[in-house]
Amino acid sequence: MTDFHSVQTVDLPGSDLDVTKMPGHWLLARLCKRGLRPGGLGLTRAMLRHLAIGPADEIVEFAPGLGVTARSIMQRRPRCYMAGERDAKAARWTAGQLPSNPEISVVVGQAHHTDLPAASSTVVVGEAMLSMQTAEPKRLLIAAEAFRPLRSGERYGIHELAVVPGDIPSVQQREIDRALSSVIHVVARPLTAAAWKTLLEGVGFRVIGIGYAPMHLLRPLRLIQDEGILEALRLAKNIMVDDAARERVLAMRWVCERYRRNLSGIYLIAKKGLGPRAEAGAPQRSHSWIILSI
Ligand SMILES: C[S@@+](CC[C@H](N)C(=O)[O-])C[C@H]1O[C@@H](n2cnc3c(N)ncnc32)[C@H](O)[C@@H]1O
Repeated sequence: MTDFHSVQTVDLPGSDLDVTKMPGHWLLARLCKRGLRPGGLGLTRAMLRHLAIGPADEIVEFAPGLGVTARSIMQRRPRCYMAGERDAKAARWTAGQLPSNPEISVVVGQAHHTDLPAASSTVVVGEAMLSMQTAEPKRLLIAAEAFRPLRSGERYGIHELAVVPGDIPSVQQREIDRALSSVIHVVARPLTAAAWKTLLEGVGFRVIGIGYAPMHLLRPLRLIQDEGILEALRLAKNIMVDDAARERVLAMRWVCERYRRNLSGIYLIAKKGLGPRAEAGAPQRSHSWIILSI
C-alpha cells in the first residue's frame, strides 16, 4: 500500500486530459475550484446538519471528488469513514486531505460495484454524482449500493441538480440535459424534486427532508463563498490566462445562466425503511475496492 498522506504534489484529476474535451468538473478543479456541487458549500452544510452526523456514525461517501465534504464530515468526528471515488487522482487527493487513522479510508472504485457489506453503515452520502448517470444506473446505484450498506432506519443524503418547476415539459427537460451535457462533456440527467423523491422511495427509502439552493456554481459570489476570496481570485486568474479553458468555462456559465430559472441545487435526506429488505448480514469492513492508506 502507498502512503499518500505525505504527498503534496499529487496531480489533480484530469491534469493529463485535453482542456477542450475533459469533463467540466475536472476542468474547474484544474483551474482551482475544489467544491464541484451545484448548490454550493451552503447546501452541503445544510445537508450535513440535517444528517446530524456524530461520533457514533459509520459513514460511506460516494464520489468525494476533491474531499471538500469529507473534510467537513471529519469535523464531526465520525467513528469511521470510507469514501469510494472512481478517479484515482481524486481519490489520492481526498486521501491526502484526511487525518491518518485506520478508521478512515478512501478507495478507488465504482460506486456501482462496491461490495460494501449489508447493514454496515449509518450514513451514506453522495454529491453531484447521480445527476451524471442515466436513469437505470442511477436507480441501480441507489437501490443496491446506497441501500444495502445502511442499517434500517439510517440515513442517505444526496446533493444533486434539480430541474424546476416540477411540471416542466419533458421536451424542455431533454433540451436542458442536452445543453448541459454539451458543455460539461459528461452525461447530465438532473431530475425534478418529485422525481428524485420517487426514485428514492421506489427502492425503499423514506424521504424526510429536502432543501434547495440556486444553481450558482459559476457566479462570482458563490465562487467566493465556496472557495474563499484568495482561491476565487486564483481561479479568475487561471481562467484569464488560458484561452481554451476560458472558452469552456464561459460556455458552461452561458448554459447555467440561460437555464437559471430551470436549474436548482437540491438535497434530499432519506431513511432506509424498516422491512424485509432492510437488514442482512453482520457489519464488517469491505476491502474489495482498492484502498489508499492514509
Ligand atoms: C461533479 S464531481 C463531484 C465531486 C464531489 N462530490 C463534489 O461535490 O465536489 C463528480 C464526481 O463523481 C465521481 N464519480 C462519478 N461517477 C462515479 C461512480 N460511478 N463511482 C464513483 N465515483 C464516481 C467523479 O469521479 C467525480 O469525482
